[in-house]
Amino acid sequence: MLIRRSSDIREFEVTDHGLYLGRRKLLALGAAALAAAVASKAAAAPLTGVIEGPFGTSEPLTSKIAATHYNNFTELGFHKDDPAENADRFPPLRPWTVEIGGECAKPGRIGIEDLIRPHALEERIYRMRCVETWSMVVPWIGVPLGDALRQFEPTSRAKFVEFTSVHAPNILPGQKTDLLPWPYVEALRIDEAMHPLTLLAVGLYGEDLPVQNGAPLRLVVPWKYGFKGAKSIVRIRFTETRPHTTWNDLQPDEYGFYANVNPAVDHVRWSQANERRIGEFRRRPTLPFNGYADQVAGLYAGQDLRRDF
Ligand code: MTE
Repeated sequence: MLIRRSSDIREFEVTDHGLYLGRRKLLALGAAALAAAVASKAAAAPLTGVIEGPFGTSEPLTSKIAATHYNNFTELGFHKDDPAENADRFPPLRPWTVEIGGECAKPGRIGIEDLIRPHALEERIYRMRCVETWSMVVPWIGVPLGDALRQFEPTSRAKFVEFTSVHAPNILPGQKTDLLPWPYVEALRIDEAMHPLTLLAVGLYGEDLPVQNGAPLRLVVPWKYGFKGAKSIVRIRFTETRPHTTWNDLQPDEYGFYANVNPAVDHVRWSQANERRIGEFRRRPTLPFNGYADQVAGLYAGQDLRRDF
């Protein structure tokens, strides 16, 4: 399978480093409290030591400017350009700790570096499909979520994994409103979470994740609609029962828990049969599981995916 390295990205695909967080630089900030952390539009640090991941696509990349300026991150506003516009409202926070708990033998609070460092950072070019029928091809950098989670030794009662995003209403403009119940929460079944396609991402286009894409770490689940990819994660919990999740709780008829990309199941307000790549005019047929059926269809053997949508 052909995988393009970020070093192959053409000139026009690379832009505006000013919006990026420089992770190495941010580490130097030390133990700043959330409210006291300093806002910065630090130049992005290239991520070093990144290896080619085993999964990818040779399809043309979405331009970096589109992938970083057409976002959904309601904490930073409700329009697609708000997250980039408001990125500097969300200060780069270091150390960033993720609380890991629930049904596991070794719960704990852990720094992002400790969560990520034991594993090689991989670059994987994934097709991403938003529920609103647009799609992108993004070179993500991260580690397989399963590799990062195994060290906490989930017990046999761990059937699901819940991801909670940052909650900082004092600084995040969206969280000053009640348009969503905060914090943003998503969840996967444990076999989905441990599947090698599922990525805990810390970067894109060869650099640290920009704020608007979910800095400093977010979930990437390429065979599911975009709302499953929780951003700016602060807590991961193994659970025995299916967790409540933000969009599924709000509009269960529109946003199923599974959210597997499925051209045969329409959203209540629009067809999901085709999609438009950001930057292209023509629409294209949407593929089951977003084109990753060979890898993941087996997870749902025997399930009625019209009911479990
Ligand atoms: N995570 C948080 N914390 N808040 C959000 O509003 N939006 C989701 C998901 N993760 C969201 C979130 C939705 S609806 C989508 S489509 C993707 O993030 C968008 O990711 P992108 O901006 O990197 O394309």
